[in-house]
Amino acid sequence: MTDNEFRLTQEQIDQFHRDGFLSLDAITALEEVDSLREIYDNLFSLQTLKNHSDSFDLAGTGEEGAVATLPQIMNPSKYAPELTETIVRRNAIAIARQLLGDEADFSFDHAIRKPPAIGAVTPWHQDEAYWNPGLAYESLSIWVPLQEATLENGCMQFIPGTHKEGVLPHHSIGRDTRVPGLETDQANPELAVPCPLPPGGATIHHCRTLHYTGANTSDNFRRAYIMAFGVPPQSRSVPRDFPWLTERKSVRDKK
Ligand code: NI
Repeated sequence: MTDNEFRLTQEQIDQFHRDGFLSLDAITALEEVDSLREIYDNLFSLQTLKNHSDSFDLAGTGEEGAVATLPQIMNPSKYAPELTETIVRRNAIAIARQLLGDEADFSFDHAIRKPPAIGAVTPWHQDEAYWNPGLAYESLSIWVPLQEATLENGCMQFIPGTHKEGVLPHHSIGRDTRVPGLETDQANPELAVPCPLPPGGATIHHCRTLHYTGANTSDNFRRAYIMAFGVPPQSRSVPRDFPWLTERKSVRDKK
């Protein structure tokens, strides 16, 4: 670890392990937020990504001509490699290693841009519910808003301590197996802790922490840039089944 590396306090490290999430006011410089936002918005207008399997509506059925209410781009740094040479990426990897150990490395990134007024809820879920049920994960996601994140535009909300439990039963959003997004009915929203953030702040959550973001009822886009990190996943000794993954008939898979 070098002297100029982003350092968490022991209290923040303890809090992550206890609650399964952490909120930071600043993970990058404000000037970088402006340039990230520009790169980000360019990706969402990129014609080559329009019909690509890495670009889809998490909450939609994928039908032709439908207006996306939860548009997502997977692997944005593959399409905008300059995202890898950023303060935010450098700080994120330093944070991930302080929380998961030096073995932790970047696994993937994604971008969810909730449109103003019509941006849909991202229902309660655990990220691990999307992954290979045959593997054991120790991973986290670092969620960075590129403008203020508020209750009104869909800031992150978490249920403390849920990372200590297993993966709960999930199903496709609205029980429509054409929809790529997943949700669980087993979260108690009364226990939710909302985490509003300034631009360039971050929430960090474990891959089993229950989380949610509300609809975007504001007049502006709610842009979140998300980076996932983990230690190399191991095979599980006890097998498990995620039937919600095999039930999905996403149009995206056919792109
Ligand atoms: Ni998630």
